[in-house]
Amino acid sequence: MCGIVGYLGHREVVPLLLDGLAKLEYRGYDSAGVVVVDDGELRTAKVEGKLERLRARLAQQPISGLYGLGHTRWATHGPPSERNAHPVVDSRRRVALIHNGIIENFLDVKERLQAAGWRFDTDTDTEVVVNLISSYLEQESGDLTAAVKRTVRELEGMYAFAVISTCSPAPEIVAARQGPPLLLGLSDGERFLASDASALLAYTREVIFLDNGDVARLSEEGLRIWSGGETPVERPLQRLNWDPVQIEKGGYKHFMLKEIHEQPQALQDTLAGRVDFERREVHLEGLGLDAATLAGVERLHLLACGTSWHAALVGKFIIEALVRLPVEVDYGSEYRYRDPIVDPSVLAVGISQSGETADTLSAMEAAKERGGRLIAVCNVTGSQATRISEGVIYTHAGPEIGVASTKAFTTQLEALYLLALYLRQQRGGRLADEHLEALAHVPQAVAEALACEEQIGELARRFFRAENFLYLGRGIAYPIALEGALKLKEISYIHAEGYPAGEMKHGPIALIDEDMPVVAIATGGQVAEKVKSNIHEVRARDGVVIAVTDRDPAAFAGLAEEVIRVPRLSPHLQPIVDVVPLQLLAYAIGVRRGCDVDQPRNLAKSVTVE
Ligand code: AGP
Repeated sequence: MCGIVGYLGHREVVPLLLDGLAKLEYRGYDSAGVVVVDDGELRTAKVEGKLERLRARLAQQPISGLYGLGHTRWATHGPPSERNAHPVVDSRRRVALIHNGIIENFLDVKERLQAAGWRFDTDTDTEVVVNLISSYLEQESGDLTAAVKRTVRELEGMYAFAVISTCSPAPEIVAARQGPPLLLGLSDGERFLASDASALLAYTREVIFLDNGDVARLSEEGLRIWSGGETPVERPLQRLNWDPVQIEKGGYKHFMLKEIHEQPQALQDTLAGRVDFERREVHLEGLGLDAATLAGVERLHLLACGTSWHAALVGKFIIEALVRLPVEVDYGSEYRYRDPIVDPSVLAVGISQSGETADTLSAMEAAKERGGRLIAVCNVTGSQATRISEGVIYTHAGPEIGVASTKAFTTQLEALYLLALYLRQQRGGRLADEHLEALAHVPQAVAEALACEEQIGELARRFFRAENFLYLGRGIAYPIALEGALKLKEISYIHAEGYPAGEMKHGPIALIDEDMPVVAIATGGQVAEKVKSNIHEVRARDGVVIAVTDRDPAAFAGLAEEVIRVPRLSPHLQPIVDVVPLQLLAYAIGVRRGCDVDQPRNLAKSVTVE
């Protein structure tokens, strides 16, 4: 939820820190700050608000050095303010720390330190960590690594943090990870540290992902890592396969719009190499489960949050139809607390773009602890979800910078369809033409669906002042109604609800009036006729309907204010195109309302705390 960066090398550090933070700002943007060690002193610059305010501050009050740390914050403990911005410095002004996560026992530690005379200047949980490290520096004769090792033994909660100190005899950065991601980058004579790969891509592709429990020391001599803060260990060097250009906006006004338009390519890339259309076979390298194991699967648990949970709801329809196995779908945050019934016949699937969502990871661990088999559908190589799973189906969507999940969502739907086909095939089922041909058409169908962008722009002009929206869908399109509502909520701050169209008459129809636009998804066979009847019910109460349909718009003449035509795919793939106009609508309305569509208020791209 926060972005952390560090650098140690031969270049002026502040511009590098700012560049790294700019790539991570989507992870949190309540406040930002940097710190360097210069001439034996800690020099910090911190602001409330976004990175551009930090740049302005540094333009007026420059700081310089050859190594340092930077942070962009999504507030957990302590409101967004300059006082609570990171880096946080200990009360003896000799250690500076940046932190992503939550220290759950911070009050106990704080009371003990206050009793020992340590002063606290912020409302953050982070400050107990930096004061605790400083308190151990004396006992460890200024050895920063030893002080960090002692400190982490006392912390409970989730953290990825990095520290520098004026006590270090030579430049060094010490880091620790328990939960949120932390990776190290190496280049000739330069050392990098970041929350995720996007901050490093411009400088190096050689990275090391720290494991939970690792303490690491970066210095001019190189890199050392201790597992569990004790045992020296070598972590594998991995090569990043993302292109730095992908991190840029590529001429689009916002990352969200760029990523909506990248969907045809992302879907193509996610499909590539996985389907042999000639032999009617699906290949899922890296799934990690053999045919015997898959034959033993009797039910599936799909675990996710937010948009990824909507993908799981669609996945339930697909898997139950094509594999005939029962599927349960759970929010990550609910699953672990309901004491789920799991055994080796359960295949748990964690669905996560980032692979770092704490609630989803907890649910995945809960399934694993109870003997379930565990795989992940994920977009980020080396992320925690991929490391705790037996196998992974990667969505090759490329980096998704916009906080709103768009191309990650549609590639998740495609990956879940591939999983269903693979399970069907491995369990002796036949893959027929109708299962595979539609798959080949998905990228092109989405490209065609994107053609409604101008029509959507006009709709946004008419409806951007609405205070409430209702999204209706039936069957496999109901999760798309939920997703359309979430997109609008999180991008434009308009209240929106997704509802099963058939449920309207059981209550929500009381809400209908001419001020509440209703988006009705009327696609996919016989349910589309049912939705059409629901549209009649809405119209009869002066409701204003925007219909999304794969059939002739003339069928909605006199019924819908506006009809958005999408291509027709097979019923189980139809949601991939149905969602495209809803993504564009949320984006266009958000822009018209002057919202920061890439970094909506109160949100972060990856929710790495519970
Ligand atoms: C979706 O637009 C949101 N950004 C959010 O709901 C997101 O889907 C959710 O936090 C899960 O993230 P994940 O896919 O990275 O686990």
